[in-house]
Amino acid sequence: MLKIGILGLGTVGSGVVKILEKNEENIKNKVGAKLKIEKILVNNLNKKRELNFAQGILTNDAAEIIDNPEIDIVVELIGGEYPAYDYIIKAIENGKNIVTANKLVIAKHGKVIFKKADENNVQVCYEGSVAGGLPIIRPLQNSLAANKIKKIYGILNGTTNYILTDMSKKNKEFADSLAQAQKFGFAEADPASDIEGADAAYKITILSLLAFERFVDVNSVYVEGITNIASEDIKLAAEMGYIIKLLAIAKNSDQGLDIRVHPAFVPQDHPLAMINGTYNCVYLHGDAVGQVMSTARGAGQMPTGSAVVSDIMQVSKDINFNQREVQRIDKFLDSQVVDINE
Ligand code: HSE
Repeated sequence: MLKIGILGLGTVGSGVVKILEKNEENIKNKVGAKLKIEKILVNNLNKKRELNFAQGILTNDAAEIIDNPEIDIVVELIGGEYPAYDYIIKAIENGKNIVTANKLVIAKHGKVIFKKADENNVQVCYEGSVAGGLPIIRPLQNSLAANKIKKIYGILNGTTNYILTDMSKKNKEFADSLAQAQKFGFAEADPASDIEGADAAYKITILSLLAFERFVDVNSVYVEGITNIASEDIKLAAEMGYIIKLLAIAKNSDQGLDIRVHPAFVPQDHPLAMINGTYNCVYLHGDAVGQVMSTARGAGQMPTGSAVVSDIMQVSKDINFNQREVQRIDKFLDSQVVDINE
């Protein structure tokens, strides 16, 4: 059995708990071990919640997770810079593997965190930090690793893509569409980070790190959000054959790195123009593979929960199968071949 401590039980934290419960058997079979939630850090122990927990699971003391010798994996889902960063560093020093969806902390402090993880021989996984349910961190680390990546175009913020889609399809003004996005829970607690572009800047900084193997100072990224876009602009763009999207762009050329986030006119027949609602998209070019486009829901409880649980499973497999890969393959060799037409 592997024991997990979760820091934070907000939108994503609750999604993670739901997925771990709903797919428990499936997860156990894939990982080869039961995953047990040992402790969850919450702000308020007395808050009414939709999920029920056994006595003693919820705590308001982070040390009960970070300093707990029983816990193998610390899942950081409180978001924001502090205390999240401090908790991650302390947990690594205590030998915990880390799973986080914290784009701000990875974008700003990735270098220190990865170095610390290396020194302590633990993993840091952060698939949930960029584009929610869209697999892009691990593909850049693994499946696309053979390529030199020259450019990435991303729609990396679900809230702004939802707002722009809603404004465009329903002829609404920015404030009305923002209120709707907040009602659905896509926007950050403080939506400024979404609508002013910082959220997308953190994400493209992380993708640049993986694609170009360079740590970029997120403060040096040009950022312009969508707060000044009116329904008039969207109408005008449509008349000229364009759709307005908030694009996160990263290019690596002989002139250096060019990384920016801003609204852009995208031709209506371009694949990026088809990405609507909370869907995110990464459109990149690798010198060997050519164009790769990937899309999935980039915000919300279950899509981001999906990425976080997959990271938890990956770390768990690495812990559990490190010495036992042969038995794992044997197990599959013994299973029946399925006739899908039966
Ligand atoms: N607020 C973010 C978004 C959530 O809208 O994309 C996922 O990072």
